[in-house]
Amino acid sequence: MASFSSSFVLSQNLFFFSLFCFFLLASADLSATFYASSCPKALSTIQTTVKAAVAKEKRMGASLLRLHFHDCFVNACDASILLDDTSSFTGEKTATPNAGSLRGYEVIDTIKSQVESVCPNVVSCADIIAVAARHSVVTLGGPSWTVQLGRRDSTTASLSAANSDIPGPTLSLSDLISAFSKKGLNAKEMVALSGAHTIGQASCATFRTRIYNDTNIDSDFATSLQSKCPSTGSDDNLSPLDKTSPTYFDVSYYRNLIIDEGLLHSDQELFNGGSTDSQVEKYWSSSTTFFTDFSNAMVKMGNISPLTGSNGEIRTNCRKTNS
Ligand code: HEM
Ligand SMILES: *[C@@H]1O[C@H](CO)[C@@H](O)[C@H](O)[C@H]1NC(C)=O
Repeated sequence: MASFSSSFVLSQNLFFFSLFCFFLLASADLSATFYASSCPKALSTIQTTVKAAVAKEKRMGASLLRLHFHDCFVNACDASILLDDTSSFTGEKTATPNAGSLRGYEVIDTIKSQVESVCPNVVSCADIIAVAARHSVVTLGGPSWTVQLGRRDSTTASLSAANSDIPGPTLSLSDLISAFSKKGLNAKEMVALSGAHTIGQASCATFRTRIYNDTNIDSDFATSLQSKCPSTGSDDNLSPLDKTSPTYFDVSYYRNLIIDEGLLHSDQELFNGGSTDSQVEKYWSSSTTFFTDFSNAMVKMGNISPLTGSNGEIRTNCRKTNS
């Protein structure tokens, strides 16, 4: 009896040990030191160009951060977002959430050509986007985090997944929660990641209904936006997502929500008498908590289904597949 139970415990331990090894190996796919010997200058090269691009135009920091989000939410963080359309291939750039508003492609091209000149065919476009997003946040005064590396680039893209999987500005809280949950991110991480809207701009078409028809909006705030965003036309006119400090990565986005000054309908959903109100208040009162949670959630978002090993490829030109 004793020998039966001890061998049972042993095999049970072995089972859990192999399970542990499996997860260790699976999560060891990406690593912070992936380019340490193959391209030691990769990170500094990316950082220098991001810094220059953001110095030239601060909004570019926001645009590069959004690029990473829109890349990761469509299948994987695999640079599928960067593939241009050809006569036989339709990419993601013309999908509704991207067309006319997603930007930063030229900055990624510049970074890629500089990285190729120091170490050709080594650094993926997907990793470049992830590092550029991190450095954009740092340059605009936000937190830093360790970017996990070793993603490879896709050989395909999906217009339909871009249309279905990137959340839109008219979503309700429960639809936002399920859009993120589909990507393995919980409601808390969704609220933290939405803090990215402390920087950058949105076009009139994305918040028109909110400023004319929503009732949970400060009326002076709504009126102030209406001259630049008439009820018809001027779809591309821009307004800051955080009117207080649109080029500074801070907690004022959450403050705006508390005073009913979220720009997008989806932003205000995070503070509208629902389950996420208290988290919005928490982030407004503690930038340390927000910075920690945002950083951790960015690492998690950056880990959505990466292509590793011999999957995918290292694109030479981020805009097209190698063959
Ligand atoms: C929670 C769901 C989200 C929705 C519904 C949403 C929606 C939008 C919309 C409609 C815009 C304006 C686009 C335009 O001008 O047409 C925008 C901009 C932006 N989004 Fe989001 N977003 C969400 C989450 C995120 C996340 C998770 C990030 C990054 C971690 C992010 C980063 C940004 C940034 C930085 C901008 C400004 C880009 C620029 O100025 O170029 N968003 N978002
Ligand atoms: C506001 O709501 C009314 C009534 O539903 C609708 O006719 C109008 O188009 C809406 N306006 C905007 C800007 O969405």
